Amino acid sequence: MSSHSNAAAAIAAARERARALDRDDPLAFTRSEFNIPTKAQIASTRLPDSATAETGSGDGATDKCVYLCGNSLGLQPKRTQTRISQYLSTWATQGVQGHFKPLDESPLPTWLDADERAAQLIAPIVGASEAEVAVMQTLTANLHLLMSAFYQPDINGKHKIMLESKAFPSDHFAVETQLRHHNLDPATSMITLTSPSSPEDNILTTAEILSSIDAHAATTALLLLPGIQYYTGQLLDIPTITAHARRHSIFVIWDLAHAVGNVSLRLHDWNVDAAAWCSYKYLNSGPGCIGGMFVHERNSAVTRAITEDRPEEGYTNRLAGWWGNEKGTRFVMANKFHPVKGAAGFQLSNPSILDITSLSASLEVFAEAGGVGALRDKSVRLTGFLEELLSSGVGEEERGLFRVITPRDAEQRGAQLSLMLKGGLLETVMRELERRGVIVDERRPDVIRVAPAPLYNTFEDCVGFVEAFAEALAVARRERGL
Ligand SMILES: Cc1ncc(COP(=O)(O)O)c(C=O)c1O
Repeated sequence: MSSHSNAAAAIAAARERARALDRDDPLAFTRSEFNIPTKAQIASTRLPDSATAETGSGDGATDKCVYLCGNSLGLQPKRTQTRISQYLSTWATQGVQGHFKPLDESPLPTWLDADERAAQLIAPIVGASEAEVAVMQTLTANLHLLMSAFYQPDINGKHKIMLESKAFPSDHFAVETQLRHHNLDPATSMITLTSPSSPEDNILTTAEILSSIDAHAATTALLLLPGIQYYTGQLLDIPTITAHARRHSIFVIWDLAHAVGNVSLRLHDWNVDAAAWCSYKYLNSGPGCIGGMFVHERNSAVTRAITEDRPEEGYTNRLAGWWGNEKGTRFVMANKFHPVKGAAGFQLSNPSILDITSLSASLEVFAEAGGVGALRDKSVRLTGFLEELLSSGVGEEERGLFRVITPRDAEQRGAQLSLMLKGGLLETVMRELERRGVIVDERRPDVIRVAPAPLYNTFEDCVGFVEAFAEALAVARRERGL
């Protein structure tokens, strides 16, 4: 048999296996909580009326697309529309009273309590107490707020910020501009980590990170790292790195954009100093929706009464706004800042209830699924299945055209696999995948990221992807004469 017919046989067998795995999956029910676009919808260039968009009726209604892009933007839970309609009805019928008047039969909190309710829902997802999390702002803004509170450089001692050399650009810009804000020069106050053992992909081993911390311990004030690296999909050893940095009195902030809702996190027990995340990836809250932050309880205590003569004493200094003030005195309108104890004391403005309603709708689904622990178990199996099929379900000629750069060890990755293509193939492969109703994302010049999300993806989706990917590679190979 040719390598192509071997691969086709592997795909057929995998599809049978996938259907059985999906049938036996105790979490299969959560897929029906989501709007999964059909192939016809993702090919369409017209805005459908909302009824069609929701139910997926019309051409190809049962022919769902293969959406493996939850690492970029999670799909929409069906209840988002319901909860947002309920919020809009509250606003329409109650006006300003929505802030404080509870309504019979409403599943929604009053707007004054919406941030607290959302914090209750997110706390178990990041492994924190409710007081240690705040649902607020957006990821980059929260990184700036955390650095403004906890980065206090001493030019004669600890003044450097350490981050990875291939950090997400927003994190890099945030660090660079924090340094400049303190009149420091990034050339001398910024340390960027590179991996000697993996110069091409920059998969940083824990040992490499710890030894860089040792090398710069005397001059480093702050470490900013991603829980999961956006490009490679590598999951870092958060507890070990945190413990090591803290032993050297380095304040540790984690960017959890790709980790939250994806892998199990125990931020409190791991002694993490602070963290921030967005909610539009694995948390499915919608594009640009409200983010969140974690501040370990030791870093946000309000230890002394705030008095007239010493208004700033008794709590970590920070850039503040009225929503960070204790609820009891928030509306007194006195110009004396009494922060809420905990992460909520870092809030600035009254939060968008539209955003919080959207996020909370999705977090309800997480709670019904039994939390991240159960989802992570399924995720490990889904991604492992995908990985295995990428070698057996792709013909020999095409197999040489890509490699998986994500660590092979399930403990060192989340849902995502990053596939590095041979130079010049990306555009054709993406075009051909799209033609076949497969949505993944690209990171130029040569990487595609593929992430089965256990809340709504199936084992059969993984088969659909590999089948289409093999065909797309074959087209790209022919086009390039390889
Ligand atoms: C790792 C990482 N950090 C930061 C950001 C920036 O997020 P935001 O635009 O919500 O500030 C992203 C966005 O995707 C990201 O993936």
